[in-house]
Amino acid sequence: MIDPDEYGFSTRAIRAGHQRTNEGEHGEPIFPTSSFVFDSAEQAAARFSGDEPGNIYARFTNPTVRIFEQRLAALEGGERCVAFASGMAAILAVCMGVLKAGDHVVVSRSVFGTTVVLFNQFMGKFGVEVSFVSLTDLAEWEQAIRPNTRLLFLETPANPLTQLGDISALADLAHQHGALLAVDNVFCTPALQQPLALGADLVTHSATKYLDGQGRAVGGAVVGSEEAIGGEIYGFLRTAGPTMSPFNGWIFLKGLETLKLRMEAHTRSATELAQWLSKQSGVERVHYPGLESHPQYELAASQQQGAGGILSFELEGGKEAAWRLINATQMISITANLGDTKSTITHPATTTHGRLTAEDKEQAGIRDGLIRIAVGLEDMVDLKRDLLRGL
Ligand SMILES: Cc1ncc(COP(=O)(O)O)c(C=O)c1O
Repeated sequence: MIDPDEYGFSTRAIRAGHQRTNEGEHGEPIFPTSSFVFDSAEQAAARFSGDEPGNIYARFTNPTVRIFEQRLAALEGGERCVAFASGMAAILAVCMGVLKAGDHVVVSRSVFGTTVVLFNQFMGKFGVEVSFVSLTDLAEWEQAIRPNTRLLFLETPANPLTQLGDISALADLAHQHGALLAVDNVFCTPALQQPLALGADLVTHSATKYLDGQGRAVGGAVVGSEEAIGGEIYGFLRTAGPTMSPFNGWIFLKGLETLKLRMEAHTRSATELAQWLSKQSGVERVHYPGLESHPQYELAASQQQGAGGILSFELEGGKEAAWRLINATQMISITANLGDTKSTITHPATTTHGRLTAEDKEQAGIRDGLIRIAVGLEDMVDLKRDLLRGL
């Protein structure tokens, strides 16, 4: 097995975490087993007491899933990663690991809708207080902090308007107040942004998106220091069991092997499409961190190594024009998922953000003419032709 500290990003993505078995396999093996056998009663007791490391039961660990965990930890620059059955299970694990009744959390208003429900409805039920703030307004984050604030949580870039949070500034703010900073790194992945190096304490992932990259499986992960992850976050997995299956772990670890190439290609295509869309008549505005017109272009350039594959744009003519364009496409998939080789198109105001009140939508900037595209890896000429049908 390679020592991640001695190798570059792509080598880590391809080789980290795999300890060859006695079979001498070149590719990583899948271990479909629910439990593991001990040599003796003494060894069983030592494994259970924690005196001896090793596998016990697949709710806790599995060798295939461990390769994925070690590989992702090596890419994010974290000491430890724990994999979960979904991205939401990973975020729940952060909550269960870090928070207790009476604690307070500050969360960006621009996080994934289900994350809002998790914090508001479910964590609220257990006595955790939540304040939602503007992702981009540092003063608002600061004002929201209370003596019992334990966690700051954000996504950057955010969906669907691609606003950014300043990770270093928010990490400083969290640490000044004895809180932790958790960053959902789904949009950039470690190929384009490493929040731990910028001061974040925890990184969460929906592996369902770019880590797989081909829309095949649902999974998640949390990465951080041994101290931050090894206790209650791993303990929550072990106790509650939102465990990643070895089959899915294998899909994700193979996905990581091409992550950098794919993220660079997604970025190239999204940049070209964003520039092209900016010049089309009927398009009022394009939101993409790789455009100089983006209000946080400089932050994107300093915090990220690429602008990523997600863009959104606003059409003159509101919902009618947006639906007409979406319905006119013949190739791009009308689906809410992102991070796939296949480009996807959505109308946020009536889908992902459809449950927001008109006032909340206005405040969040989700207008009726807004369309989001997660730019896949198809030929650019085909993407433009498909969009032109309805432009
Ligand atoms: C930014 C972000 N975080 C978390 C999630 C949740 O991940 P999952 O669907 O794997 O539970 C999603 C899913 O769409 C997402 O887009």
